[in-house]
Amino acid sequence: MELRGRTRHGAAVGAVRRHFDRLGDREWARQDSDATSRVSLEVHRRFLRRFVPRGAHVLEVGAGPGRFTTELAAQGCRVVATDASPAHLSAHGRRLRGTPAERGVLRRELLDVRDTSRYRDGEFDAVLAYGAPLSSTPVASCDALRGLLRILVPGGVVVASVVSLLGTWRHHLPDTGDPADATAAGCGDTDAPPPVPCRKFRWGDVVALVTEAGGTLLDGSASNWASLGDRDTLARLESDRERWRRFLEHEIAACAEPGTRDGGTHILFAVRR
Ligand SMILES: C[S@@+](CC[C@H](N)C(=O)[O-])C[C@H]1O[C@@H](n2cnc3c(N)ncnc32)[C@H](O)[C@@H]1O
Repeated sequence: MELRGRTRHGAAVGAVRRHFDRLGDREWARQDSDATSRVSLEVHRRFLRRFVPRGAHVLEVGAGPGRFTTELAAQGCRVVATDASPAHLSAHGRRLRGTPAERGVLRRELLDVRDTSRYRDGEFDAVLAYGAPLSSTPVASCDALRGLLRILVPGGVVVASVVSLLGTWRHHLPDTGDPADATAAGCGDTDAPPPVPCRKFRWGDVVALVTEAGGTLLDGSASNWASLGDRDTLARLESDRERWRRFLEHEIAACAEPGTRDGGTHILFAVRR
């Protein structure tokens, strides 16, 4: 039984690794590809700054090409940067070496979020898991979150984002109008076949996940609200620096309201051990 469980786990880890390896360096470009993605990036950045203490010892899970490692390093954090994909981990090295952010990187390690057993209880002040790691483990997200909480000091924080069920539907409204058609897509780049299973969350699922894992939910946010709307208007707003600055303030405040948490492509949340 145990062996079969391990084999299944190994196969699932392999599928995640192959899928994200294939995506390669596209993740970096995707995050900056349009105004909607740039809003999401800014929401993620500010949420990180709110909850990850300056100078913290951080495990970053699913670090990808390293945008948020750069942010953590700018906050004086010391980061163990990890990812399930060897290709993404190499891209991380290529992007950061020779930049000031590299000073914040303690080491790079291959790691699937489902198995953090190599780390000691209380080893880190914070865990950052932005993007998809907790969505790419459909049946194990609670065990994975429990594992992340275990390696935190008491009072330490997991800051994460997962793919939003209703927001994904809103963003990719399919011709059929059927949410299942939009929400069956995999995590990451939806064009890359075959997609790994992707758990998409409602805000209520996030609350349930955190409760089941034994953490204390500190706050949450959508990655977008108004910025999932009219793309032309958004582009015009972005072309005017002052209007864009004001829009971002309103948008980020709106994303944090309880009524909008399901409305973006991702749901962000912070959990205290
Ligand atoms: C969408 S990218 C996000 C990268 C980065 N965190 C960011 O937000 O810019 C998701 C990353 O998570 C990694 N990933 C996906 N599933 C994972 C898992 N089960 N364990 C660890 N990393 C995983 C992928 O290889 C990929 O680099």
